[in-house]
Amino acid sequence: MLVKIEHTRDFRALAKLNETVQSWHHNNFPQEFKPFDLNEITNAFKRMLENGNTIAYLAKDENKPIGYLLGFIKDRPDSAFQYKKSVLYIDQIVVTQEYQNSGVGQLLMDRAYEIAKVKQVTEVQLDFWSGNQSAEHFFLRNGFDYFNHRMKK
Ligand SMILES: CC(C)(COP(=O)(O)OP(=O)(O)OC[C@H]1O[C@@H](n2cnc3c(N)ncnc32)[C@H](O)[C@@H]1OP(=O)(O)O)[C@@H](O)C(=O)NCCC(=O)NCCS
Repeated sequence: MLVKIEHTRDFRALAKLNETVQSWHHNNFPQEFKPFDLNEITNAFKRMLENGNTIAYLAKDENKPIGYLLGFIKDRPDSAFQYKKSVLYIDQIVVTQEYQNSGVGQLLMDRAYEIAKVKQVTEVQLDFWSGNQSAEHFFLRNGFDYFNHRMKK
């Protein structure tokens, strides 16, 4: 296995890889998440990648796409309530099942930390849906910690 991480604007490759995570969300939260639809998701990625604040990295084994990380740089202006802050928000990270647990996710995160440094963001944020234990474990191992709780009834 020869894994390379590259900056990407290949929205079609990202859309195909998205099936792994979209299907998990649809199966576990069917009232929130739609079934994976390649056409719709391809269009959504195309639009997201047109935004200059979007960062996207593709992991490839030789030339085969095996995972990606998609994030946004978000600037919060100073206000009466909160201090100014610049955040790299990791929206999606996916590694195809056959390549999980072999360090690919970590390579993607390491690349995100590099860009966070370059862009001089104050912090890196992310969230995940309840019950996604492998994601929770992976993010805790990466040093992330809880800072906010959302509730519903
Ligand atoms: C969460 C996710 C991205 C992690 O990616 P990953 O490639 O499996 O992660 P890594 O391989 O880097 O790390 C996972 C484990 O493999 C271990 N590992 C790393 N390199 C390794 C290697 N060369 N050989 C064996 N194990 C290795 C890591 O130490 C880690 O072990 P731990 O469980 O003891 O902490 C992946 O599970 C995934 O795509 N899940 C589905 C999508 C999802 O839920 N995404 C998050 C919400 S958007």
